[in-house]
Amino acid sequence: MAKKTVADIDVSGKTVLVRVDFNVPQDDAGAITDDRRIRMALPTISKILEGGGKVVLMSHLGRPGGTGFEEKFSLAPVATKLAELLGRPVTLAEDTGGSDSQAKAAALADGGVLLLENVRFNKGEKKGDDADYIAGVAGLADIYVNDAFGTCHRTEASMYGVPKAMKAAGKPAVVGFLVEKEIRYLADAISSPQRPFVAIIGGKKVSDKILVINNLLAVCDHVLIGGAMAYTFSLAKGGDKLVLPSDTHCADDFSSDANKQVVTAGEIPDGFEGLDIGPETAARYSEIIRGAKTVVWNGPMGVFEMSPFDAGTKAVADAVADATAAGAVTIIGGGDSAAAVEQLGYSDKVSHVSTGGGASLEMLEGKSFDSVDLLDDA
Ligand code: 3PG
Ligand code: MG
Repeated sequence: MAKKTVADIDVSGKTVLVRVDFNVPQDDAGAITDDRRIRMALPTISKILEGGGKVVLMSHLGRPGGTGFEEKFSLAPVATKLAELLGRPVTLAEDTGGSDSQAKAAALADGGVLLLENVRFNKGEKKGDDADYIAGVAGLADIYVNDAFGTCHRTEASMYGVPKAMKAAGKPAVVGFLVEKEIRYLADAISSPQRPFVAIIGGKKVSDKILVINNLLAVCDHVLIGGAMAYTFSLAKGGDKLVLPSDTHCADDFSSDANKQVVTAGEIPDGFEGLDIGPETAARYSEIIRGAKTVVWNGPMGVFEMSPFDAGTKAVADAVADATAAGAVTIIGGGDSAAAVEQLGYSDKVSHVSTGGGASLEMLEGKSFDSVDLLDDA
């Protein structure tokens, strides 16, 4: 069922609580190393501000213990980055729905932006059903927006209990533009793909991706397997849609200057480990991808961070870019594959790079999200 979006509601003079996923990577000094998740939330924030609304944002960052403030997990660096990207001041509240956020939310002028401190500093966030905590957050605003795609597979309070309470109080609860776009890309690819539909699945362990692979085998024309999981994949699981590597680039050490060789798949010599798909596999996968009309890619083909073991991932990225240029819809699942595509310079040459790791995997598994299902229908 299609959901009402932030474009369908009147926000003029209203305070709008937006759950975003600002769980961004940081270096040791706390500097944000990739601000994509913040940038991707800007259309929703701008829409509310242009409509004359006031914005109260909330997010988690990392996995703090739920026992109060921890400097390391503070959203302060995110507030600074957001202010820079928006070109207007962003106030940071010290709590999530407590007295400081209540005072600061009440003091917001039209066009004002308030960011609440990390929701996971509160025990009630993970617990999900702490009535006092939920009431404090839900009372801050007139409207709820879920634009936290990367967190949609969670039912923590800010994702589920808060919108439920706001709905019960007669307040609108809708999706933001990022959640709308992510779900449209991933759901449409799965439910009504242009064919051939090719999935590329990499990563470390088969066990992490087995549900995805099973679901994709039911809807795809080809499922190409790469990454470390390929070395342990049992052929018996196959069927003719499943395509496994025929050769492997392996090395006797986890380093660029190790002794390397390309071997037939399954014949990695003692003392060596597979670090990438081999050139024959890369060429075969590329040919299949170039013929596709829909591509979904989750997980790199090898150790893309370390040359020359980035070659397989690069070849696949190149083929995905070619398919895109030829009119295919191409979707990169979040996490490692998004990082690989970004690092190799291909993020502008594909249709969509998801901001969700676990969330995009669950969509590829065919699951739906309680955090979205409960929002207002269009
Ligand atoms: C993520 O990066 O996976 C999301 O922000 C969700 O975070 P979580 O896995 O800690 O719930
Ligand atoms: Mg996660």
